Amino acid sequence: MAKLVINAERKLSHINKELQGHFSEHLGRCIYEGLYVGENSEIPNVNGMRTDVVEALKQIRIPVLRWPGGCFADEYHWKDGIGPKEGRKKIVNTHWGGVVEDNSFGTHEFFELCRQLGCETYINGNMGSGTVQEMSEWVEYMTFEGVSPMADLRTKNGHKEAWTVDYFGVGNENWGCGGNMNPDFYGNMYRRYQTYVRNYAGNKPIKKIACGANVDDYEWTEEVMKTTFRRNEPGQHGFMDGLSLHYYTHPGGWLNKGSATEFDEKKWYQTMKKTWYMDELITRHGAIMDKYDPKKEVGMIVDEWGTWYEVEPGTNPGFLYQQNTMRDALVAGINLNIFNKHSDRVKMANIAQMINVLQAVILTEGSKMIKTPTYHVFDMYKYHQDADLLDSTLETEIVGLEEENMVPNLSESVSIDADGVMHITMTNLDLEHAYPIETTILGKKVDSIEAQIVTQEMHAKNTFEDPENVTVQSFEGVEKVHAGIKFTIPACSVLHIALK
Ligand code: AHR
Repeated sequence: MAKLVINAERKLSHINKELQGHFSEHLGRCIYEGLYVGENSEIPNVNGMRTDVVEALKQIRIPVLRWPGGCFADEYHWKDGIGPKEGRKKIVNTHWGGVVEDNSFGTHEFFELCRQLGCETYINGNMGSGTVQEMSEWVEYMTFEGVSPMADLRTKNGHKEAWTVDYFGVGNENWGCGGNMNPDFYGNMYRRYQTYVRNYAGNKPIKKIACGANVDDYEWTEEVMKTTFRRNEPGQHGFMDGLSLHYYTHPGGWLNKGSATEFDEKKWYQTMKKTWYMDELITRHGAIMDKYDPKKEVGMIVDEWGTWYEVEPGTNPGFLYQQNTMRDALVAGINLNIFNKHSDRVKMANIAQMINVLQAVILTEGSKMIKTPTYHVFDMYKYHQDADLLDSTLETEIVGLEEENMVPNLSESVSIDADGVMHITMTNLDLEHAYPIETTILGKKVDSIEAQIVTQEMHAKNTFEDPENVTVQSFEGVEKVHAGIKFTIPACSVLHIALK
């Protein structure tokens, strides 16, 4: 019997709803076909946005959406994507398949999509190949309400009111596709560019995000923090509100990612081990940030995470289209628990990517749409959004097949929402064993219990022929006992328990 102890009287940190954020890039069929089909499409849409997709995304309460990239962002010139569509420039999407980008989805369309989703906006600016002026004019175009060249241009293009930009990223992966910079060079460039990401009077201040490290590049974090961190003091605002981190789970490494659907148990545990590595990365990058920013004013923004496998056979290698199985459900559940546990420092996380690319929550084929196992995990975890993390400890065992791929069997996080409902999410990555859990709850009486689960055999997935193979099921196995509750978490499962 494993023990879980929860102290409802010890709130540790606020779980920003943005920890369940998403990322959409001009890559493959994420934007075009996935989200945007155009006003004249036969697929039902509102102002070009697919109705089925928008409705499904609203159900999981998308809190924030990052756009337009990714690597695409540092080659994106926003003026190509405004004005009458027939006049918009057609360009080559050099990063992703060399296809024609007709710019029919641009700034106005992005804000329209976020309006329909009811989510916050995270724009990623172009530092790699763009000028300070271009970036500054984009911010003016989007957010300035008065009389100015860019505000006038926006009005001329049919939108008089300014929009709200909640987050603005100054470059993406500037250590790589965003310009191959060294950290001190980037840090100084960042100081310069961010100066012109203006907060216009009367607007909600834009949260500025600096480009952070690739995986375990701790030197990048050290140098960028050293160069750019400035404390918020009376009369002066710091230079940044967030520092990003990118980490993908490639089971066999970058050169041996493996199939999304055909894998054995060894690959399963390898994937889980790689997923758990997120915890170490956050801890170690966080420790460096703490040296400069002990008050944790700068959020860690994990704005690209998720599984990255070989593309589905027969699809364009530049489109990064992959299927999604129970393995992805576990990867999502573990990562979201890790983010919650680090919510004192991690202020946003964006799964890559929302639709039809990498660890997508939705896949489309023409007018058909399916929700992936990852979608269903987000659906169960949404109750943590803007709740408070509670102190909890769980006994785990180390499981796996080979010494180098041994991992903790269980992960968990617990929160309490504004209505006093406690939410426990737990994963069991063990492929064979269920685990009985005895839970002691301090400081809260249990009046009623509701529980849901995503569980199946490891390869289970949803297809266009069988879209409901993996879904959220209700779980009846939670029992009230004197000190709290007890239940048995099945093998290969992700569980959500709500206690009133
Ligand atoms: O998400 C796909 C790509 O991965 C992004 O464009 C880039 O930022 C990262 O390398």
